[in-house]
Amino acid sequence: MSVINAADLHKKYKKTEAVQGISFEVDKGEIFGFLGPNGAGKTTTIRILTTQIKPDKGKAEVLGFDVRKDSHKVKSRIGVVFEDQNLYPRLSVFQNLLFFARLYGFGKERVEEVLDFVELSHRSKDEAQKLSRGLKQRLIIARSLLTDPEIIFMDEPTSGLDPHIARNIRSLIRNLSEKGKTIFLTTHYMEEADELCSRIAIINKGKIVKLDTPENLKESIGKTSLVIKTENGTPGNWESRTMPADSPETAGALQELINKGVKFKIETKKPSLEDVFIALTGAKFE
Ligand SMILES: Nc1ncnc2c1ncn2[C@@H]1O[C@H](COP(=O)(O)OP(=O)(O)O)[C@@H](O)[C@H]1O
Ligand SMILES: [Mg+2]
Repeated sequence: MSVINAADLHKKYKKTEAVQGISFEVDKGEIFGFLGPNGAGKTTTIRILTTQIKPDKGKAEVLGFDVRKDSHKVKSRIGVVFEDQNLYPRLSVFQNLLFFARLYGFGKERVEEVLDFVELSHRSKDEAQKLSRGLKQRLIIARSLLTDPEIIFMDEPTSGLDPHIARNIRSLIRNLSEKGKTIFLTTHYMEEADELCSRIAIINKGKIVKLDTPENLKESIGKTSLVIKTENGTPGNWESRTMPADSPETAGALQELINKGVKFKIETKKPSLEDVFIALTGAKFE
């Protein structure tokens, strides 16, 4: 069952064609990745889907509601985690959440629940401005969960965070997914998309260049290769060469090593999403 349906979306800012005919569907329960370099059109797309801006052309439905005509219905059923979202710096973590909870008709219990989920209960009395960037991001995620939304839109949720903090946010995203939430995630981190997403749309210059599972994307540009390491005379000194995993030449080379009694070891090397991006766009990912 698809919960997001985008068809031929276009958006132009003055001269910049930010989004140029984007179409895709997201199924319930997916972590759907929008992967692309800066300026690719990720934020523009996510703003259209969350009803912050209107597309110039095309149609998008979120949970069956038209983002143009039923923006209130869409808004009330989704959670959003955006970079430029503001917290009240002087209010405590708890008060920040309570303020929004009240807007939606929820009370303190709900605030406690979301704080517990993002593991921020121990900081609930601290001012929001005292939190580190990673904890602030957890607070913003907590806020997006107050209404128990079915879909959570996250625009580069780990951008600029230290690696171990980013890992922590990713594990939070996985926990949400395990609870049955659908996640629409934009990122410019290959590894993040690879690790989290059930399917990835690779976006470049306002267009989807390819959409598939991470496994299929990687398989599409080439097969696994073998790294053959041989000991070059000196024990412990390994020389390596990379060959395609399934070619007769590789089999021949291995047979030769066996015949000669040379000590060797083999590692497999799979193509990365970065390889996919380069193969598809001809450009290096920044
Ligand atoms: N408000 C705006 N006014 C003018 N140009 C914009 C605006 N927002 C984005 N753009 C341009 O549109 C393109 C896509 O931007 P964006 O959707 O933010 O990409 P991404 O999120 O993938 O980095 C970029 O070239 C960007 O400079
Ligand atoms: Mg962006």
